[in-house]
Amino acid sequence: TWTMANYAKTAVADIRRTVGDGKVVLALSGGVDSSVAAALISRAVGKQLTCIFVDHGLMRKNEGDEVERAFQSSGMNFIRVDAAARFLGKLAHVGDPEAKRKIIGEEFIRVFEEEGRKIGAVDFLAQGTIYPDVIESGAGDAAVIKSHHNVGGLPAVVDFKGLIEPLRNLFKDEVRELGSELGLPDYLVWRQPFPGPGLAIRVMGEITAEKLDILREADAIFREEIVKAGLARSINQYFAVLTANRTVGVMGDFRTYDYTLALRGVTTTDFMTADWARIPYDVLETVSGRIVNEVPHINRIVYDITGKPPATIEWE
Ligand code: XMP
Repeated sequence: TWTMANYAKTAVADIRRTVGDGKVVLALSGGVDSSVAAALISRAVGKQLTCIFVDHGLMRKNEGDEVERAFQSSGMNFIRVDAAARFLGKLAHVGDPEAKRKIIGEEFIRVFEEEGRKIGAVDFLAQGTIYPDVIESGAGDAAVIKSHHNVGGLPAVVDFKGLIEPLRNLFKDEVRELGSELGLPDYLVWRQPFPGPGLAIRVMGEITAEKLDILREADAIFREEIVKAGLARSINQYFAVLTANRTVGVMGDFRTYDYTLALRGVTTTDFMTADWARIPYDVLETVSGRIVNEVPHINRIVYDITGKPPATIEWE
């Protein structure tokens, strides 16, 4: 009979046969797909796998440390590259969303290549490509690095023999099931989708370290309250957006002129279309109250009530 345990067993045997005594590198993003791919390949070939986590400094609050903790403790070869300053430098004064994506995608590949070169001869590149990615990119066997990284092309790794994509026949829910089967923690397995360019496309326009910090704090409060309200699994994606808009407010006896924060929550099955989530008013009230009180420079909060189409899920 078909069970996820059997699937894992077969996949492990396949990977062992393909890899032999070769070396594998994988770009770990901390998302569900790359995490599950890492766990599976690690089970198959252990220390022959090296996971490279390029920390672009555009992750949500505490996320980089969570990823590090989860993978360090698993005993894998795990490298975290702190490239935050480098990405921020490249992104300085860039306001156009597609330009931001392109810069991040290219820089990601560069950093990954530099780290890969330090490992020496690498035989295989592993990716957490899942079935919907295969369909969407129309990639066939000539693989395209996940749309995720928003670049067509693969990082140049030394002595490259091939690509390993052990999840390419699985749908998202199956990937999560496999992740649990492999013993990954729930917070990784049930992580909501997070775009490759991260918070860079959730700070409207030009990015600064200060704006990223403001957004990180506000987003963390929103996520915490959604979890507390028991809504985390019924809202498929929820996050905060720091708009480029500033408005007048009043705080005590003072006039303020600060940012407007937008909250977004959607329900969807495939992320191609989506409806805005009917978050209860009292939850929105709590979130709004906490954010304006706890996060400096936000004095107004709006909730996005547009579906996709005509809007997209992200604001950029
Ligand atoms: P949109 O905004 O197009 O988003 O409705 C649909 C889904 O894709 C995610 N998204 C991205 N993911 N790189 C990614 O890896 C990107 O540049 C990107 N842009 C959007 C978005 O979070 C949503 O889940």
